Amino acid sequence: MKSIQKAGVVGGGVIGAAWAARFAENGIDTVVFDPAPDAQRKLDEVVALADRAYAKLTLAPRAKKGAITLTTDLAEAVKDADFIQEAAPERLELKQDLFAEIEGHARADVIIASSTSGFKPTDLQAKMVHPERLIVGHPFNPVYLLPLVEIIAGEKKSDDVTASAKAFYASIGMHPLLIRKEIDAFVADRLMEALWREALWLVKDDIATAEEIDDAIRFGCGLRWAQMGTFQVFNVAGGEAGMRHFMAQFGPALKWPWTKLMDTPEMDDALIEKIAVQCEEQSEGLSIRDLERIRDNNLIAIMQALKTQKWGAGQTLLDYEAQLYKRSHSGSSETVHDFSQLIRMHETVVQPDWTDYNNHMNEARYLQVFCDSTDAFLNMIGVDPDYVAGGHSYYTVETHIQHLQEVAALEPLYVKTQMISHDEKRIHLFQWIYHGKTDEVLATGEQMFLHVDANASKACPAKPEVLARLGEIWDGHQHLPAPEAAGRAVGQRRS
Ligand SMILES: NC(=O)c1ccc[n+]([C@@H]2O[C@H](COP(=O)([O-])OP(=O)(O)OC[C@H]3O[C@@H](n4cnc5c(N)ncnc54)[C@H](O)[C@@H]3O)[C@@H](O)[C@H]2O)c1
Repeated sequence: MKSIQKAGVVGGGVIGAAWAARFAENGIDTVVFDPAPDAQRKLDEVVALADRAYAKLTLAPRAKKGAITLTTDLAEAVKDADFIQEAAPERLELKQDLFAEIEGHARADVIIASSTSGFKPTDLQAKMVHPERLIVGHPFNPVYLLPLVEIIAGEKKSDDVTASAKAFYASIGMHPLLIRKEIDAFVADRLMEALWREALWLVKDDIATAEEIDDAIRFGCGLRWAQMGTFQVFNVAGGEAGMRHFMAQFGPALKWPWTKLMDTPEMDDALIEKIAVQCEEQSEGLSIRDLERIRDNNLIAIMQALKTQKWGAGQTLLDYEAQLYKRSHSGSSETVHDFSQLIRMHETVVQPDWTDYNNHMNEARYLQVFCDSTDAFLNMIGVDPDYVAGGHSYYTVETHIQHLQEVAALEPLYVKTQMISHDEKRIHLFQWIYHGKTDEVLATGEQMFLHVDANASKACPAKPEVLARLGEIWDGHQHLPAPEAAGRAVGQRRS
């Protein structure tokens, strides 16, 4: 996949602004085209929401943010873009005209993805000269958090385009789902619409209120859906005989007149008013922005919980974090380093929620930065995720941090590492956190790590290839001057 450095987003509303936030979060400079006079305010609000959400979502070193620029000139948004995401209003002709115009300004090799909720890509391609470069990349609100993006190709298609789009979306923390055939409204929206249709009837017929219907989802099936979907949940519900038993038991019910799925209630003013009033009562004075923050907090908590289980959207988050660590750690066991020098591998930025009441990075985050740097070091000597999955790892057994200078939110940091000693079970490291702009030393950290058999929870010698790599480092580092603060006691006066 060609590296995507710059993106163009066409339409900066709910969806377009959130695409811009996700792109910028991943270091991609993004130009947004939107003709509306209040577009900048809306864009800024969504970007702030996304920033807040990412700070909570992950401790992994986030990429240096890409710039987001708003323009009212379409050509400006797309002419230098490596990837174009359209998120304009859901009107077929408007989108068709936009794609024809975008093609006139964009580079010929650039993918154009539409966020449409329902139009088939073949219809969207109608006025294009190179229709195969257009796909649907259908996201879900909030786009900066939810991983799913449905990819749909039209009759004129290119496998390269779909494969590249898939790789790109995966690289920015998403779960691309390639839809096998083009149909209106794709997969997820069809499922949501079926539920929505049924829910509207239940309100109209006074069976339940909006709140009661939401309760029926969020206290029960919704919790199941978030982690297993519908088929796997029913497979489990079938007991030992699984889906076969489930279908034998509940299959006949599908023929009973349970559902009103094929009818639509008349969307007259009375029904719209009834539902709107019930929804306002349900939210009890919370604004839409309040609800967005609550929604984001809950989504983050769910994804983090699923991460501990290495499951579904949690696995996607885990994979994304692995990419973030890799990007910020300039080294692997294959990287050639000059071991006659200190090793510099880890860089990061002080996140706004890493600070204390003085707006200075708090003590725990110094330790985290040292540990992230140690992870980069371990990766470099071959103690990577595969090695850890094999049941061996290094555990931290001792830490001494000196806090020398404060550092505020959003300041850049980097870490240098020196190996003080090692043997077949132990590594003794000394590290310095530097300010990324002034090169001032902010803190030093001295740590001892013990190689363990994680299953037995006992120290054991590291594997020969790891010891060999440590030997290479030692060949260089034994000639470096010992750090002045190495081995110092707590409270000892500085010379
Ligand atoms: N809202 C959702 O939950 C959701 C989810 C997935 C996909 N989508 C799809 O994303 C697209 C955008 O939806 P939205 O919810 O962000 O709508 P929105 O109304 O919030 O945003 C649309 C934006 O497009 C701008 N615009 C108007 N005319 C334009 C033009 N000619 N060119 C470019 N921009 C123009 C508007 O000023 C507005 O800011 C639609 O195709 C929609 O179906 C929406």
